[in-house]
Amino acid sequence: MLSDVADLLACPLCRGDLTLQERALRCPAGHSFDVARQGYAALQAGAAATGTADTAAMVAARAAFLDAGHYAPLAAALAGLAFGTVLDAGAGTGHHLAAALGGGAADRGLALDLSKYAMRRAARAHPRIGAVVADLWRGLPVRDAAVDTVYDVFAPRNAPEFRRVLRPGGRLLVATPTEAHLAELVRPLGMLSVDGRKAERLAETFAGTFRLESADLVTMPLRLTAEEAATLVGMTPSAHHVPEEELRERVAALGPRIDATAQVRVAVYLPER
Ligand SMILES: C[S@@+](CC[C@H](N)C(=O)[O-])C[C@H]1O[C@@H](n2cnc3c(N)ncnc32)[C@H](O)[C@@H]1O
Ligand SMILES: [Zn+2]
Repeated sequence: MLSDVADLLACPLCRGDLTLQERALRCPAGHSFDVARQGYAALQAGAAATGTADTAAMVAARAAFLDAGHYAPLAAALAGLAFGTVLDAGAGTGHHLAAALGGGAADRGLALDLSKYAMRRAARAHPRIGAVVADLWRGLPVRDAAVDTVYDVFAPRNAPEFRRVLRPGGRLLVATPTEAHLAELVRPLGMLSVDGRKAERLAETFAGTFRLESADLVTMPLRLTAEEAATLVGMTPSAHHVPEEELRERVAALGPRIDATAQVRVAVYLPER
């Protein structure tokens, strides 16, 4: 619930501390942000958002795919590295954050995402998750040195802001697809392929703000029905590139059982001070 994480939040307009009063978050300067009926709040500075929020259909596809357990090893790998107060940047449905709160060393979670459809789901993914609509490319509506762990799982990376909100001793966990990720599906389904320079670009993103502590590969063999393969494409940016009917035809051509491999690099970064 938002009340679990309200002490972490800062006003997107003036940076003042927010407090939860009745159904709104308010700062000392009088700025006020309503809590939506579904339990999340939108903390945006008013300017047009810079990113591409997941649509309702993409969020529904993501929820169905993750709830079926296909990426459970990824959620477990992240949970094993998380501790304390966890901020999930680009949290989507809150699936990974909820997994971290399900028994490990993490004790509460703040989900941030530009998509209100995602935050509606994240708000009910776990009782100790608070969900906030925010743009990761603007200043995060989070106080300085407020969290122990930052998650960035297939989401935009704002290195200076991630460092600002981490407490000393905190860590950033970054999950990115490798070149082998869903390689079997890329061509037949017309998906966007992973940029071969991804690791290099990641290093550039964090140079001077974070240093790489360790990295592991999580490899997940998938055995999918045609429906599941279509859902998988539907939850990715590739959904914007292939018309739905064409996708159905392409998936059907692969037969009733589709084998593929998901492969994700999970890296631990520590702030440079
Ligand atoms: C590929 S999804 C990953 C979601 C989640 N981390 C997961 O692994 O299930 C990327 C997410 O980033 C969000 N997003 C994209 N641009 C954003 C931005 N500028 N600020 C905040 N969230 C953003 C999308 O709405 C989407 O939920
Ligand atoms: Zn304010």
